[in-house]
Amino acid sequence: MKHIIIDCDTGIDDSIAILYALKNRNIHVEGITTGFGNTSAKQAAENTLRLIKLANCGYEVPVAIGAEQSLNGEWEPAPVHIHGANGIGNVELPKAEQKVLDEPAWDFIIRKADELQGNLTIVTLGRLTNLAKALIKDPRLPYKVKNVVAMGGTLRKPGNVTPYAEANIYGDAEASDMVVSAGFHMMLVGLDVTTETFITAESINSLDRYCPKESLPVVNYMQSALGYYFKFHYDTMGSVDRCVVHDPLAMILAEDPSIGEYRFLRARVEYANTEYRGMIKTDERFKSEYKHDEILYCTKVNSDCALRRILSVMQ
Ligand code: BDR
Ligand code: CA
Repeated sequence: MKHIIIDCDTGIDDSIAILYALKNRNIHVEGITTGFGNTSAKQAAENTLRLIKLANCGYEVPVAIGAEQSLNGEWEPAPVHIHGANGIGNVELPKAEQKVLDEPAWDFIIRKADELQGNLTIVTLGRLTNLAKALIKDPRLPYKVKNVVAMGGTLRKPGNVTPYAEANIYGDAEASDMVVSAGFHMMLVGLDVTTETFITAESINSLDRYCPKESLPVVNYMQSALGYYFKFHYDTMGSVDRCVVHDPLAMILAEDPSIGEYRFLRARVEYANTEYRGMIKTDERFKSEYKHDEILYCTKVNSDCALRRILSVMQ
């Protein structure tokens, strides 16, 4: 059983990753923390509460709100054409009775790391601001958690905000640099693999024929929200009836790293140079000592297997 905190900016692909984790018997979601990105941190928390109600996973999942802006105070309005005005493709889910916690995301992360004594995995699906803030408050955090799996970055594929940078890393490049160089056992799941893995309309639309009755509300939500995401992929990439699988792939690899291949890297993130902001800089020179300064970068993934996993937990 994996004990996971999901730190996200609950947009469409985040929501599929959240549902995947909540429906999965190999994962216990210890809590969900939200930050700015696809929408505001507050709206992301609202979406998250509604998704928890929808998933009806049978245990309590606390939600804490985090950063509304980057470490240096930058904030960009959410791109409506990607995730809709509410972040989840304008789908109106029923309101939840559950309220958000009083403590901020970073305090929640530190508290759970202490409670779970080396058994906590943090899966980040948005900017790394909340984790950086937790790190500033508790520099021992990398030695208290089991690992961090982050959706973000690119090495060989073009970026999706600039030619060199991916959105989650670019959105708070200072925080990203702080986190990748902090000494966490960290895995980055970037565009090199997420843009090679697709969910198709055909597979999602066939789900309601096979899923049990109690999973129908989740399946219907996925069909509607992904419908919005398919349109964005058609308008911007010419992809017909399919979308890439950014955040769900990070969640699947957190659950089972064996379906991926990896490289160890010493990585930093550029933040001072505006043109290359958010670019991942690597140092692959040989060093005879391992000093906790390397992270794993996912270079290849079994996409068929990943897609089957998404479909199978919903059935
Ligand atoms: C990342 O940016 C967001 O739009 C997605 O939710 C994903 O986390 C992909 O670059
Ligand atoms: Ca995200």
